[in-house]
Amino acid sequence: MHEDLEKILFTASMIDERIKVLGKEIGAFYKGKEPVLLGLLKGAIPFYAALAKAMDIDLIMDFMAVSSYTGTTSGKLDIRMDMKEDVRGKDVLIVEDIIDTGQTLQMVKDLLLSRGARSVRIAVLLDKEAGRRVAIKPDWAGFIMPDAFAVGFGLDYNEKYRNLPYIGVLKGAIYGKKAE
Ligand code: IMP
Ligand code: MG
Repeated sequence: MHEDLEKILFTASMIDERIKVLGKEIGAFYKGKEPVLLGLLKGAIPFYAALAKAMDIDLIMDFMAVSSYTGTTSGKLDIRMDMKEDVRGKDVLIVEDIIDTGQTLQMVKDLLLSRGARSVRIAVLLDKEAGRRVAIKPDWAGFIMPDAFAVGFGLDYNEKYRNLPYIGVLKGAIYGKKAE
C-alpha cells in the first residue's frame, strides 16, 4: 500500500472483478445499439479502459475534459476539451470515476441531451451517496463508498495517485497539505 494512504477501500482484484461484471451487464443492455462511450478525462481512464474491454459489443470511444464550478445558485460547466463525435440521435454512456455532489454529471448529461443525444446514461466506478446535492442517480455504479476522500484507479489528489491499481483513503496529514 502507498505510504500516503490510511487504508484500502477496494483492492485491485475487487475492482477488476466488479468491472468485468458491470461490463457484461452494460454490454447486454446496449446490445445492437453501438453506444458512444464518453470518458471524462482524466479520472475515468483506468475504469474506462477496463469497462470497454469487458463490454462485448461494438462501441465508439470518445472523451471530454470538463470541470464544474459551484456557484451560489447553479453550477457552471467548463469544457476544457470537447468530444469529437456528433451525438445527435446516438446513445451515449458517460463513464466517470466518481459521483459526489452529482453536479458535474448532471451538467454533462444536460449538455448531451441539448445536443440531441437519443439517450444519455451514466456509469461510475464509485458512488459517494452521502455527498449528493443534485438529484441524480448513476445508471450503473461499481461500488458505493463512504464519505471520505479516495485516491487511486484514476482518482487523484493534486494530480497524484491516479496510477494506483487499487482505491484507498488518503491520510489526513496529506489531504490537509497544500499543493507542492
Ligand atoms: P461532483 O460534481 O461533486 O459529483 O464531482 C465529481 C468530481 O469530483 C470527480 O470527477 C472528481 O474529480 C472529484 N471528486 C469527488 N470526490 C472525490 C474523491 O473522493 N477523490 C478524488 N476526487 C473526487
Ligand atoms: Mg476528476
